[in-house]
Amino acid sequence: MSDTKPRILRSVRLLNAAEKRIETDFIAPPPPTTPLDTAAILKLAHEFQPVAILVTHHSPLKGADVAALPESVKLIATVSVGLDHLDVPALLARGIAVSNTPDVLTDCNADLAMMLIIAACRRAAEYYTLMKKGWGHTLGMDEMLGHRVTGKTLGIIGMGRIGQAVARRARGFEMNVLYHNRRRLDPAHEQGANYYESLEDMLPKCNILSLHLPAAPSGGPIITARTLALLPRGSVLVNAARGALVDETALIDALRSGHLFSAGLDVYQNEPNPDPRILALPNVFMTPHAGSATVETRTAMCMLALDNVTALVAGKPLPTPVTV
Ligand code: DGY
Repeated sequence: MSDTKPRILRSVRLLNAAEKRIETDFIAPPPPTTPLDTAAILKLAHEFQPVAILVTHHSPLKGADVAALPESVKLIATVSVGLDHLDVPALLARGIAVSNTPDVLTDCNADLAMMLIIAACRRAAEYYTLMKKGWGHTLGMDEMLGHRVTGKTLGIIGMGRIGQAVARRARGFEMNVLYHNRRRLDPAHEQGANYYESLEDMLPKCNILSLHLPAAPSGGPIITARTLALLPRGSVLVNAARGALVDETALIDALRSGHLFSAGLDVYQNEPNPDPRILALPNVFMTPHAGSATVETRTAMCMLALDNVTALVAGKPLPTPVTV
């Protein structure tokens, strides 16, 4: 092994294609058998003196952690589009570049959001539980009915790449798409979706509300008792973005009271141990933060993170740099 190759660390074992590339192109410790936490990454970084560290949202690098990184580190390449686990301004201020993995996960994340929308509307969690128990009795005409998805009004908060991809899929279900975003999109990207500058004006019109915005590093939840109360009774909430966007106690109250018919959740305030009150609700369809969890997408994410390292060491512009 030649020491002229760049030294890198990764906080998790990557997909096979990326692990092969690491073997060939980089010097790195053996892949971790379980994800490394922040303290383990910092310890290893001091021993190993890498030029770049690949991380995921499981290993946050915030204020003091950033200050504790060794001088050798010139890039934090997160294998995620989300950045809420990183103190990006502090990293950039230390002269450490940051890259993420946008675009390559858009379709899979949007597919999963559609799965949550359909599953929550059509009572997939309850049907699955019933079938696992053996079914056993013929359902009456009006028993365990869900809500039709086709033709419903879908509100999207956050009309970036993923929000737009969900809107494209929703059009296939003849849904009426409304959106709230920091700024209005141009008509080519809007594709018939209706922009609401005011969230308060949009919420009462939504049958289904889907979140596709990043979690602000210091911002509180956007879904609270107040915003939930603005949704029509019997509506559905979907969150495949970040758990911090939702006040979970308010969500639980709304699901228990029937104000919300159901929810589809991929993300939670406390991962990987969501609030047991959520787990106990029959009308929530849940997945384990798996929006990008396909072989194709995870491979592409790992490769893009490595592309950023390769570009950095070659003195070239990063393919997907993060700026503030
Ligand atoms: C992302 O890419 O941000 C996913 O949520 C995984 O962290």
